[in-house]
Parts: sequence; C-alpha cells; structure tokens
Amino acid sequence: MSTTYLIVGASRGIGFTYVKHLALNKSNLIIATARNENAAAKLEALGPNVKTILIDMQDPYSKFETSFKQLETLAPSGVDVFIQNAGISGPSCFAPPQEYEVDAYDEILAINIGGSAKSYKAAYPYIFKGEGTKKIVFTTSLLGQLGFPMAAQAYAVSKAGINHLGYQVALTNANSEDVLAKNSVTILLHPGIVDTDMTTASADNRDKVDASLFISQDESVTGTLALVDKLTSADNGKFFDYKGEELKYSAI
Ligand SMILES: NC(=O)c1ccc[n+]([C@@H]2O[C@H](COP(=O)([O-])OP(=O)(O)OC[C@H]3O[C@@H](n4cnc5c(N)ncnc54)[C@H](OP(=O)(O)O)[C@@H]3O)[C@@H](O)[C@H]2O)c1
Repeated sequence: MSTTYLIVGASRGIGFTYVKHLALNKSNLIIATARNENAAAKLEALGPNVKTILIDMQDPYSKFETSFKQLETLAPSGVDVFIQNAGISGPSCFAPPQEYEVDAYDEILAINIGGSAKSYKAAYPYIFKGEGTKKIVFTTSLLGQLGFPMAAQAYAVSKAGINHLGYQVALTNANSEDVLAKNSVTILLHPGIVDTDMTTASADNRDKVDASLFISQDESVTGTLALVDKLTSADNGKFFDYKGEELKYSAI
C-alpha cells in the first residue's frame, strides 16, 4: 500500500535523510519542502517518487496556504504522515541568559513555533482526507523538556512551545467529530543528538555536548521511521525519542 509523507524542512540534515531513506521504497510518495530551487532539485534527484514544495517558515500564513494547495494534485489521496522538521537553534544557545543574544528570540520563535503552527494548519485539509491512521510528528528536543538539566535559551523555549503545540493538536484531534482526526496520532519527537549542521556548525554547540552521545543522521532517521510505522492512536500525545522510548514532558 502506498504511503504519502509530507516532510517540512527537508533541504539538509535530518529532513533530507528522511527523504533519502523514504525514496528507496518506490511505493512511498514523498512531498518535501525546501526554501529554494537548488535544494528542491537535490531532493527531486533522490527519486521519481519525490516532489517538492517551496516554503520558508517565516513566510506569512497566506503563502503557506497557496504553496500547500499543490497538495491537492501532488497528494490526491491525502497525506498519511506529516513530519514537521524545520528548525534553527540560533547563536550560542548555551550562553547564560544574561549574556545571550536575546534579539535571536524573534527569529527562533517565529521559525520553530510559528513555522510549526503554520505548516500544520496549512497541511490540515490534506492530512485529514483519504483513509487510515493519520500520523503527525512535531520535531522537538529533550532541551524543551521542563527541568532538563541543561539550559539552551530561546532554542529550549521554542521546543517547549512546540511541545505545547503538539499536545494541543493531539488533544483537539482526539476530541474531534471527524473520524480521521479522532483516529489520528500526533507525537512529539526528540530525534537524538545528531551530527548535523545544527550541532557541528557551532563549535560552541558541539563543545557543550559529550561527543560520545552523537549519533548519525541515518541512525536517527531509521529509528524514527520505525517508530512512525508502529504508531497507533493509543500513542496520541506522547513524547518519544528516535529509539521509540517514551519521554516525559517534564523532568521535575
Ligand atoms: N541535530 C540534533 O542533534 C537535534 C536534536 C534535537 C532536535 N533537533 C531538531 O531536528 C530538526 C532538524 O535539525 P537538523 O539537526 O537536521 O538541523 P539542520 O541540519 O540545521 O537543518 C535544519 C533544516 O531546517 C530548515 N530550516 C531552517 N530555517 C528554515 C526556515 N526559515 N524555513 C524553512 N526551513 C528552514 C533548513 O533549511 P535550509 O537549508 O533552507 O536552511 C534545514 O532543512 C530541527 O527541528 C532541530 O531543532 C535536532
């Protein structure tokens, strides 16, 4: 049976690796978002079953609606799995609050929280059509867990915000009168500590994390895709890591 995935934020890193893995199964249809034509061309080169949509998380919602309208023809049976992956960590997120570049809040919250909310809302009519258990994944981080013993400034605040957003989506859908929404499953995902531009581009970020904790993009994505395959509506509202282990929203 064919499965249609919508991967938001797929130009590189974990997002690109999802598409790389999913494209190997010819029965999958993958719609991947990127911010520019070059990135979209690299994604479409992964296979004939990869299609792209251009969107920037900072675009106004009206642009999301227009761009995602392409899903009407790209995904006529609806989106089965929606993975919101796009995100930024911003500058020196491990600086103490009194030294942190606080202007970074505007961009980080707009991309990470605002972008997640906009892409989910714009995708909603295309997720909740067709049949089956619809699966929604919001990418967060352990750093967004209340009480996690490592501060990460606006990045952690944004991921805590995504946890709230994802939980609200889960709760709203569970109480929906729409059968597809009621039977859907929404989870929050910590993809692991993954070797990507986000973690390696900033020496500050990398130096603060024990090198032995890093995993490859392939390991993260293989784990998450196995988890997504197994999800049922009983998992609605849960917070998982890429190994499928359930996490707590609060560590305190
Ligand atoms: N790596 C880790 O250890 C780790 C741990 C926990 C959570 N995460 C989360 O996992 C997700 C992927 O992270 P990654 O490590 O793969 O990071 P990455 O390599 O830096 O990739 C970030 C992705 O987000 C996209 N993006 C950034 N700003 C965007 C915008 N304004 N509009 C649209 N797309 C935008 C990037 O697109 P462009 O190429 O166009 O910039 C890229 O595709 C993020 O949500 C991150 O917070 C990562």
